[in-house]
Amino acid sequence: MEQKPKAAPEPLLEIKNLKTYFFLERATVKAVNGVNLTLDRQSTLGVVGESGCGKSVTAHSIMRLIKEPPGKIVEGEILLHGDGKQTVDLAKLNRRGPEIRKIRGGQIAMIFQEPMTSLNPLRTIGDQIAEVVLLHQTSNKKQAMERAEEMLTRVHIAEPRQRLHEYPHQLSGGMRQRVMIALALSCNPKILVADEPTTALDVTVQAQILELMRELQREFDSSILLITHNLGVVSQMTDEIAVMYLGKVVEFADVYTLFHNPKHPYTEGLLKSVPVLGRKTKTLVPIRGMVPNASEDIRGCAFAERCPHRMQICNEQTPELKSVNGNGQLVACWLHA
Ligand SMILES: Nc1ncnc2c1ncn2[C@@H]1O[C@H](COP(=O)(O)OP(=O)(O)OP(=O)(O)O)[C@@H](O)[C@H]1O
Ligand SMILES: [Mg+2]
Repeated sequence: MEQKPKAAPEPLLEIKNLKTYFFLERATVKAVNGVNLTLDRQSTLGVVGESGCGKSVTAHSIMRLIKEPPGKIVEGEILLHGDGKQTVDLAKLNRRGPEIRKIRGGQIAMIFQEPMTSLNPLRTIGDQIAEVVLLHQTSNKKQAMERAEEMLTRVHIAEPRQRLHEYPHQLSGGMRQRVMIALALSCNPKILVADEPTTALDVTVQAQILELMRELQREFDSSILLITHNLGVVSQMTDEIAVMYLGKVVEFADVYTLFHNPKHPYTEGLLKSVPVLGRKTKTLVPIRGMVPNASEDIRGCAFAERCPHRMQICNEQTPELKSVNGNGQLVACWLHA
């Protein structure tokens, strides 16, 4: 983890005030409730936060994979900036229309939290990768199969030609994750959304997969939105980090600043509650209390209940994400307003 001089960042994907709700019979779950995020070209943005804070729903909203009903993007913009001047608001597209289908898999690809839910158990690995290539890159079946084999080689799967004819259940967990990466990168997407790509794997395989993602990112000049619980992973992999709490981004900073000078009490709590390589931690202190329910209406700051620095204003008004020191660090906290 070292501080790198940065080239002028150029936004590739901008999420502005995104709200994605689930309208259930008994309640409305405000899973994503005003998320603001910017992913720059050729960079890696980490998204962290406790279980249930809206990380996966944010990712699925970008891909327009939220099932309607009961879900719906009720407000906000997801701006994808193309190479020229053209910008598309993904939130406004018909989620079943041709435009988003072209973007999904072509310009933005996703690695899912559960590989088995996105690989089809009834079709061979080769067919599944070739299908994506056929959809986006070529109409020649032989070329698509060659590309599938090339991608399996790229993700270091031994004997790729044989593997093309195998089914997902014939592979180990680590191999399936590699196949997911091969599938996602088969059309050189500009953006890779990786939702907990390594959580289910053991530590040595995790390290290999992360190294592989980094290698392919460099080669394809892509940007990665990396969602993870694991602060160790983000510290190694990302340029910038967004910390989410109950459907909102509460802090955003480059990785060095976030680890050495966190401003939000929730970020401080997260860092104190887990051991992180390269950061001095005397004892581990869990954050007290629990994340509130996403269907509750909360007045003031959603973290106030658990915050050691709670003030009167925290109970009454919601703090907005604001710049604190002019170096790009943003914080939503009354302590720094
Ligand atoms: N299809 C759905 N219907 C109703 N509620 C949902 C649905 N999908 C997600 N939610 C709710 O939205 C909130 C955010 O869920 P999300 O899956 O984004 O969390 P997460 O941050 O990815 O958590 P984890 O770290 O456990 O993966 C949770 O309260 C969850 O229960
Ligand atoms: Mg998730």
